[in-house]
Amino acid sequence: MKRVVILFSKEGSNMENIIKKLHPHKIFVVAVITNNPKARGIAKAKALGINTVILNHKEFDSREKFDEKLVEIITGFDVDLTILAGFMRILTPIFTSRIKAINIHPSLLPAFKGANALKRSYESDQAKVGVSTHFVTDELDGGKIIMQKSFDKSGMSFEEFEKKIHECEHEIYPLSVLKALDLE
Ligand code: GRF
Repeated sequence: MKRVVILFSKEGSNMENIIKKLHPHKIFVVAVITNNPKARGIAKAKALGINTVILNHKEFDSREKFDEKLVEIITGFDVDLTILAGFMRILTPIFTSRIKAINIHPSLLPAFKGANALKRSYESDQAKVGVSTHFVTDELDGGKIIMQKSFDKSGMSFEEFEKKIHECEHEIYPLSVLKALDLE
């Protein structure tokens, strides 16, 4: 059984969705890790009986020191893959060079890399929008694409658009996890 760890910072809806769809019959979620002690996802992970680690980035002097501790914890879990699911930290090469990880991003990469992608994608004049999953490298949102799903946002309110983005994310992220682990 392939072992994974999931990292999140806020809602954790992608984390919860992956656990519900894949754990423990397809993959084993060893633990979830959050950098935010107030993340709403903590209660979701606990309700599903998953080991939940809180590593507050504010307790570290630098990104590098935080990443060193994060790498140490992940390495200790002996996982095949690390899944970033709304993990709102920029990762240094200390992490990206040592940890095999995938990420989900709310745009059709390479469009709208980086922060506020959801809003920038909605406000753009491109009708075709969507979500992407990709391998993590030291280039922000720049690694090899695993899957994408697109739709036409014409006529949608921001709320409808946001809901559709999350639906697409919840559809392709579990499939992308299996693909990244050569299980599909
Ligand atoms: C998602 O939109 C994801 O694409 C982005 O952060 C959001 C996380 O949402 N990276 P949730 O915490 O999984 O609900």
